[in-house]
Amino acid sequence: MSSPVISVSHLKRGFKSGSGSITVLKDISLTVNRGEFVAVMGASGSGKSTLLNVLGGLLAPDSGTVTVDGMDLGSMSDASLTVYRRDRVGFIFQMFNLVGTLNVEENILLPSLAGGRRVAPAALDAMIEKVGLSHRRHAMPDTLSGGEQQRVAIARALVSGPALVLADEPTGNLDSENTRLMGDLFRDLHRAQGCAFVLVTHAPDVAMWADRVIVLKDGSIVDDRSTAEFAGPAELSSFYERTLNDAL
Ligand SMILES: Nc1ncnc2c1ncn2[C@@H]1O[C@H](COP(=O)(O)OP(=O)(O)OP(=O)(O)O)[C@@H](O)[C@H]1O
Ligand SMILES: [Mg+2]
Repeated sequence: MSSPVISVSHLKRGFKSGSGSITVLKDISLTVNRGEFVAVMGASGSGKSTLLNVLGGLLAPDSGTVTVDGMDLGSMSDASLTVYRRDRVGFIFQMFNLVGTLNVEENILLPSLAGGRRVAPAALDAMIEKVGLSHRRHAMPDTLSGGEQQRVAIARALVSGPALVLADEPTGNLDSENTRLMGDLFRDLHRAQGCAFVLVTHAPDVAMWADRVIVLKDGSIVDDRSTAEFAGPAELSSFYERTLNDAL
């Protein structure tokens, strides 16, 4: 039996708001097994990015425990969290977040270099090939299409073999053709690398890439089930609407 790579128990997290405070994540408990691919859906403001940021060690829990890859994030120092983010987590964002003054290859290597680790040239070549950018490896980001930029971001997140990949609406700025290509790439990489994926999306066709879909409403998990229960995106979409309507 595979051990969980993520184990969240009774997580709460809020923010100061004006003179008071708001609780954004309310008593979240969740486990994700090694190699599992989980989609997180929920309305705008339901806490999806906040949850991802807690898992990625960018936001501390207010209470509860968050353990990733054997590390209790809530009890770690800032310095250890920096190392955790750099070495164990691959982040992929909607806005790609490439460094404009570095070429494709340099962007992919940046987090590893910052961590003082050397990526083997063969591993870099294989990753660039995998994301279909061999002919653009010395190109600057502003000369790439949105889909190509996102593929650089994917290569950057995966080249060092993280335990966990966190993707926050990674297809939000892509057209349907690039979204489909990204789906193929994610499934391939996920199968080949065996790391856990947690992907936030509003799109049912993207959520269908995952093994499991979690629905957040107002900071609570209101459903969590296998995507194998759905024949396709249309069924997942109507389930999602129903779940949001039925949840208290
Ligand atoms: N740094 C912050 N300070 C104060 N409030 C915040 C902060 N970050 C998020 N929030 C609030 O927390 C709630 C949840 O935000 P979050 O970004 O997690 O939502 P989301 O589900 O990712 O939404 P979207 O789908 O629009 O990206 C929102 O009401 C938001 O305004
Ligand atoms: Mg968000």
